[in-house]
Amino acid sequence: MAEPLLVVEDLEVHYPIGKSLFKEGVTLRALDGVSFTVGKGEVVGLVGESGSGKTTLGRAVLRLVEPTSGRVQLGDKDVTALPPADLKALRSKMQIIFQDPYASLNPRMSVGQTLGEALMLHKIGTRKDRDQRIGDLLEQVGLPRSAAARFPHEFSGGQRQRIGIARALAVNPEFIVADEPVSALDVSIQAQIINLLQDLRRELGLSLLFIGHDLSVIEFLCDRVIVLYLGRVMEMGTAAELYANPRHPYTRALLDAAPVPDPTVRRDRITLKGDLPSPVNPPSGCVFRTRCPYAIDACAEVVPPLETLESGHRVACIRSHELNLANPIA
Ligand SMILES: Nc1ncnc2c1ncn2[C@@H]1O[C@H](COP(=O)(O)OP(=O)(O)OP(=O)(O)O)[C@@H](O)[C@H]1O
Ligand code: SF4
Ligand SMILES: [Mg+2]
Repeated sequence: MAEPLLVVEDLEVHYPIGKSLFKEGVTLRALDGVSFTVGKGEVVGLVGESGSGKTTLGRAVLRLVEPTSGRVQLGDKDVTALPPADLKALRSKMQIIFQDPYASLNPRMSVGQTLGEALMLHKIGTRKDRDQRIGDLLEQVGLPRSAAARFPHEFSGGQRQRIGIARALAVNPEFIVADEPVSALDVSIQAQIINLLQDLRRELGLSLLFIGHDLSVIEFLCDRVIVLYLGRVMEMGTAAELYANPRHPYTRALLDAAPVPDPTVRRDRITLKGDLPSPVNPPSGCVFRTRCPYAIDACAEVVPPLETLESGHRVACIRSHELNLANPIA
């Protein structure tokens, strides 16, 4: 595995909610003790149902959301220990690509101004250098240099996402979080943006945390995958290993929910019933137990540790040794 660039240890984000003058508040455990690494030049995928904590994780890593506890290290910098005044310097090392390219660009700024602002903020280059760099960035993301003079409304959704990617790349970041960067786009455009990210990743050796819903996109783009459920890691491993040999019932269920070219190939499927439980009051023991077809009494008592298997991938299920999820019989 590549040398780790990003190290995340036991990260927690608990949101206090509902507190008022007359009412005690409660705690929403959006992220509950998540640990992982992203290697130099590695693309790690993050999957899980809506509300599982993906965006919270991506933002907490960048300190766009303040972690409740835990540690994030980028290279030799302890991100979590940085005083707020030093966060600006951090932004030149870590960037984010947002889901919605419409909302994330200032409509009153030309594309050149948007990219120039990012460069100026981080004191990159002289004015002339910056104009050159803006043109280079636009070409890098497949847009003409002349796009600098135009405004966001003059571009299609896919083109706007290219601008969003150029803005993230402007400061030469070491690490980028891409939070569902294609979900808001037409299906026909999604592949173009995914291919662009794949090309950039090869050219620039980008390290990326790629948040997504579409498992086929994740498989195409990512070296490793993290499966998140109710703010906890259920399973992580190489994309190849996880897809061919899932060891957590939740991973199996996500794979079964994805469309397959020939649905007759596997008839035994795990169907996810009901909704994600509330992160205000998560189930005891294994948080997946209320929806797991393999749950036994013991699952309510112990929080399954994230164990490393012979195959090298990691799984948090006390029954993973006895279940054959490659061909489920439930
Ligand atoms: N600022 C906030 N205050 C309180 N609760 C929040 C806040 N932001 C997120 N949450 C809650 O934290 C949990 C995780 O939300 P998050 O947005 O991280 O999930 P997600 O996996 O990104 O979902 P989606 O796939 O819909 O984008 C949810 O229960 C959500 O309601
Ligand atoms: S620990 Fe129990 S409830 Fe959780 S995934 Fe494994 S079998 Fe299912
Ligand atoms: Mg999200």
